[in-house]
Amino acid sequence: MTDQIRQDIESAVEQFREMLEEQYERNARIEAAGSEDAKKKGTLVVGFAEGDGIGPVIMKETRAVLEQLLADELAAGAVEFRAIEGFTIERRLELGETVPADVLEQILACDLILKGPTTTPNAAMVAANGGKNLESANVFLRKKLDLFANVRPVKLPEEGIDWTFFRENTEGEYALGSRGVRLGDDLSVDFKVTTHAGTERIARAAYDFARSNGKKRVSIVTKANIMKKTDGDFQSICLKVAEEYPEIETDCWFVDIMAANLVNTDIRNQFEVFLLPNLYGDIITDEAAQIQGGVGTAGSANIGSRYSIFEAIHGSAPRMVADGIAHLANPASLMTAAVMMLRQMAVMTESSELACALNTKADRLESGVASADAKIGPEMTGLAGGASCVEFADLVRKSI
Ligand code: IPM
Ligand code: MG
Repeated sequence: MTDQIRQDIESAVEQFREMLEEQYERNARIEAAGSEDAKKKGTLVVGFAEGDGIGPVIMKETRAVLEQLLADELAAGAVEFRAIEGFTIERRLELGETVPADVLEQILACDLILKGPTTTPNAAMVAANGGKNLESANVFLRKKLDLFANVRPVKLPEEGIDWTFFRENTEGEYALGSRGVRLGDDLSVDFKVTTHAGTERIARAAYDFARSNGKKRVSIVTKANIMKKTDGDFQSICLKVAEEYPEIETDCWFVDIMAANLVNTDIRNQFEVFLLPNLYGDIITDEAAQIQGGVGTAGSANIGSRYSIFEAIHGSAPRMVADGIAHLANPASLMTAAVMMLRQMAVMTESSELACALNTKADRLESGVASADAKIGPEMTGLAGGASCVEFADLVRKSI
């Protein structure tokens, strides 16, 4: 062992101590915060962050659809729409900030955000940027705004599939994802985190959802046979929460067999609600979205106790931009995210009248997207010759 490696180990140990203290305190903060879901009195402020790549294309149509749908609420001042400016990959790279301070300020001044995909720089972009790397903006915002519940519905009515995934959104492999250690060229170690309070709150969110939506079953997905501490605790904490919901059946699965279950057409429509740690949730929800018709079709809600962000589950598709076919991007996933946003606005507002209107409009948008999808879904290939974003949006507009 060289002196250099010995020194690296020393500094890794020091860094590990800091991370443990920090995560221990984070758990205490979550516990102390409890679950106060304060209702919003006045105007609900919605920010639109269009993102990069195909983001501006799908956002333009989605915003236009929402403007049509909420024309009355906007006119009455019950809802306000704001554009979030300056949140481009070029600017983020130039400033060396994942989310530039002025962008974060704009975001924090809103109640809910509809967000397009934001590019995470790849190796070539980092090299072109003088080696300066950026953390994923999604991961940064989820942590910064403490958006602990990543809710991702997947439906395939013709097969009787109606799944809702509750992915823990701030912990697991993502909590310290960019802070692993490397010893020379020989050894690298990353860290994974489970906190008691962080697990309890995502479990409650999943079981509360199951209870209030008449779901009979929650499936907990881990790899607790291998990740004995983090996944083991995740599973046992969830099982403890499950005891408070005796009318709901709970089962535990390992993530590998769950990946197989989702392609097993004999049993898959028996699952209802899934409860997963962060990384497994990431992977399994892409698989589930593909079963529904592709990642371009699935929406995603990132919910915290104060803020929430709604987004497509796919990325910014730089390939489509480079090939000059960004206009063929499918807006279905962002529009589905907008449906989820309307429902969350209904949860947030103090006005029961507004809540009722928002829920009705969410239903209208949801069936509008479904009917557009039934008409030209198969043509939304994202390939040359496919149907366009505007064509899809026009069909939605007609039906809402
Ligand atoms: C998602 C995405 C993100 C994640 C990426 C873009 C960081 O895959 O929202 O599922 O890993 O969570
Ligand atoms: Mg993902």
